Amino acid sequence: MQVEKQSLIEFSYISRAKDPFSKLQLIQLFDKAFNSNTANQITGVLFYENRYFAQILEGSREDISHLWKKIQNDNRHVIIRELDFRAIDERAFPNWGMRFFGADRIAKYIPGLRGCLNGLSDNDTKLLTLMRSVAALDKS
Ligand SMILES: Cc1cc2nc3c(=O)[nH]c(=O)nc-3n(C[C@H](O)[C@H](O)[C@H](O)COP(=O)(O)O)c2cc1C
Repeated sequence: MQVEKQSLIEFSYISRAKDPFSKLQLIQLFDKAFNSNTANQITGVLFYENRYFAQILEGSREDISHLWKKIQNDNRHVIIRELDFRAIDERAFPNWGMRFFGADRIAKYIPGLRGCLNGLSDNDTKLLTLMRSVAALDKS
């Protein structure tokens, strides 16, 4: 849809959990994100390894900035930094209300990402490239 295309945004950040998340807590977080994003035309992917989160969100500028406020105010984690904010022509993850990759799935599908979620900024370019690369899994 033309209107959506004009304001479509990809936003990404990295954060650190205040306390390590258990499997159950991760499932609950994912469940909430998936349902809410699906209802709000937000798509993307969430990674978690060794207490660090990294997330790509796609959607309209308004929807993303609304969600970003909530995520920033979420006291379960501390934002380390924003990775990128850019206009996109189309979604890389059109079918993923939110896809979750924990340590096991990172090791299986994107082994290069292991150890990159460490909050060190000299990894940002590599990190973003690897994060975006999982979109290919949707098409295979
Ligand atoms: C790392 C992380 C990623 C999150 N991602 C999303 C998300 O993609 N979508 C979402 O709705 N909530 C997400 N949340 C939860 C929000 O921070 C917040 O708890 C939730 O949106 C509140 O929803 P409510 O206003 O409906 O209660 C995330 C939280 C964390 C810690």
